[in-house]
Amino acid sequence: MSADFLPVVRTVAELRAQVRAWRGAGDTVAMTPTMGALHEGHLSLVRLAKARARRVVASIFVNPTQFGPNEDFDRYPRNEAGDAELLASAGCDLLYAPDVSQIYPAGFSTKVTISGVSEPLDGAARPGHFDGVATVVAKLLNQAQPDVAVFGEKDYQQLQLIRRLALDLDLPVEIIGAPTARAEDGLALSSRNAYLTPEQRIIAGRLNVVLADAVSRLKAGDSVEKVEATGRAALERQGFERIDYFEVRHALDLSHPGPGVLSVPGRVLAAAFLGKTRLIDNMAV
Ligand code: PAF
Repeated sequence: MSADFLPVVRTVAELRAQVRAWRGAGDTVAMTPTMGALHEGHLSLVRLAKARARRVVASIFVNPTQFGPNEDFDRYPRNEAGDAELLASAGCDLLYAPDVSQIYPAGFSTKVTISGVSEPLDGAARPGHFDGVATVVAKLLNQAQPDVAVFGEKDYQQLQLIRRLALDLDLPVEIIGAPTARAEDGLALSSRNAYLTPEQRIIAGRLNVVLADAVSRLKAGDSVEKVEATGRAALERQGFERIDYFEVRHALDLSHPGPGVLSVPGRVLAAAFLGKTRLIDNMAV
């Protein structure tokens, strides 16, 4: 396929017809759901998907139900033509860019809520967000019915709740987590980085440094509560304006491991604001 051409379908019927044709030819299928405004991080998901299946379908849908009333749904960057070119260059075979009617038809009344893993952290800071994510991901996976689906570890809590969703609903899909793609200074790539001023962009590059320091401290035997307090203070010192959380969590279900030395597989997760831009990142312990 030429680097600048990518077939686009907009309806479930067209999507399923293409996936059926691939399966008829004996091809396996991977999916990478996105909200567009693609960057190198998304392309790394597509490349991983391509390594795991013969065919890759990427979706672009800016999902209104996962944005809160005062969040950036209206100003979320949209550039389908540019995104399609990038996807084609990364080896994607098909773009599914559904009209809103394909996802939320008139009368749509179903909401997928995942308890436990989706409750703390972003679940607490962004009420309703993960219901929107779980609902749209359940729909997208059911519409495409891929063999594997790839999601970034950058949105670690999202990844863990999607794993839970697939398990709980017996979705016949393997969920794969892809490592976070980072800029030279370690900033996790995100479509929202585009909102940062040059000054904020410099501060943003320190979030990953503070997380890496927390990981080292935990490995050296510092207590969970000390590491969390030190991390929050470090973010404040570095110029982050509001910190939603800086926490150590169990890596699988995101429950809090309690005080003292960490004795379970851990993940350090943080969310903090620079101006109106909310940055999240996380690292494995
Ligand atoms: O991570 C994202 O881009 C979105 O939350 C997702 C998984 C595509 C659902 O809208």
